[in-house]
Amino acid sequence: MEIKEFTKSYIEKSSPDEDRLFKDFLDSKEPYTSIFTNNPWLRPPDFKNPLKFDGQYWDTTVGRKHPFWKTKKLPSPTKEIKQIRKDFKKWGYALIEDGMSQDQCRIFMERLLEQAEGEKLAGVKSMTPSGQYVHTLINKGEVFRKCIEQDTDAVQAGILIEKFLNETLGDGWICHSFLANGAEKGFYPQVLHLDQSPLSPWITEDAPALVNTLYIPQDVNEDNGGTLIIPGSHKNIIKAGSNGKVGKLNPAINLEAKAGTIMLFDGRLLHGTGVNKTDKIRFVAAMSNVKSWMRSQENWIISVDPKIIKSASPKLLHRMGMQAATYGGTIEGFGMGASGRINESFGSIKHFREAFDAGEYIRVGELSPYSSKKDLNKKYTLKDAIKAAKSSN
Ligand SMILES: [Fe+2]
Repeated sequence: MEIKEFTKSYIEKSSPDEDRLFKDFLDSKEPYTSIFTNNPWLRPPDFKNPLKFDGQYWDTTVGRKHPFWKTKKLPSPTKEIKQIRKDFKKWGYALIEDGMSQDQCRIFMERLLEQAEGEKLAGVKSMTPSGQYVHTLINKGEVFRKCIEQDTDAVQAGILIEKFLNETLGDGWICHSFLANGAEKGFYPQVLHLDQSPLSPWITEDAPALVNTLYIPQDVNEDNGGTLIIPGSHKNIIKAGSNGKVGKLNPAINLEAKAGTIMLFDGRLLHGTGVNKTDKIRFVAAMSNVKSWMRSQENWIISVDPKIIKSASPKLLHRMGMQAATYGGTIEGFGMGASGRINESFGSIKHFREAFDAGEYIRVGELSPYSSKKDLNKKYTLKDAIKAAKSSN
């Protein structure tokens, strides 16, 4: 027998929008609503027109040349963990001096540049409004795998980094992603953001839920797109808290750092890729790390039976985490830009899972201009998945 109170029509009728629990908070789009209202210079650029330099956040310079910042004692690169803790707490970031040796930088950079070139030639390069990205570095060179493990063969400050992440995120933290961000001439700055935005509108006040480690294998500065940061902005975010408004913020600067520096930064620090005014691509690589629980308890991607995947409804696939979004569940970068909606073709990772089950998943691995024709023309699953998503759109 039908139970009236459980029917769709009854429930709809008894659910006017104003009754929705936590409505104001969940719909607030904070902290960004107040950030943009109180700091209009932080609004994103017009991606359809050439970039203007009119006092916006990307129209800036490095700390030591900035009229507001030059008298402040911003973090300078250090090897001393005690100083790193102080800088991180006060400014939301700290710089490890010579975190990678010059040799380690060279190996890192050579592999990265060749990979970027190889991905262009293989038709699998990932373009963003800032420039070329190289995703899923784990598959693209031993040096990158070693960085993820903080192996001192690839990153001489590995022990320090691991200790710092254990302290700030708690033991058992996991790597969220490791990818290289290119900034290229004629492209745009990234919108300034907090890396732990997926938690918004909640703000974690006592500690971050995400800590990023930015590998800087080449010199960066105000000319080649040194990362934009607002030093200390994590404190403005913390002060606003989970239900407050962010007030006026201090100006942004470009990060200035020598090759080998590693920036540790708080998931609540406002930052983004800078504008590269030089002719050479600028690469940094972000390995962000999250608390150990920040994934589904059941690893559906491995455990769900192929027969179930085959017949699953779009809703069930979504529930199993097979609908990637920018900040979760991407495969080789596929799904970045998706919002995680049911049936969103550019976020559906079913194609990869089916290829995997059939033993036909071909990952983009090490590539370079010297790769064989065979390697450059492989039937990469990523390429197929993009094609399939386009045709179903
Ligand atoms: Fe970021």
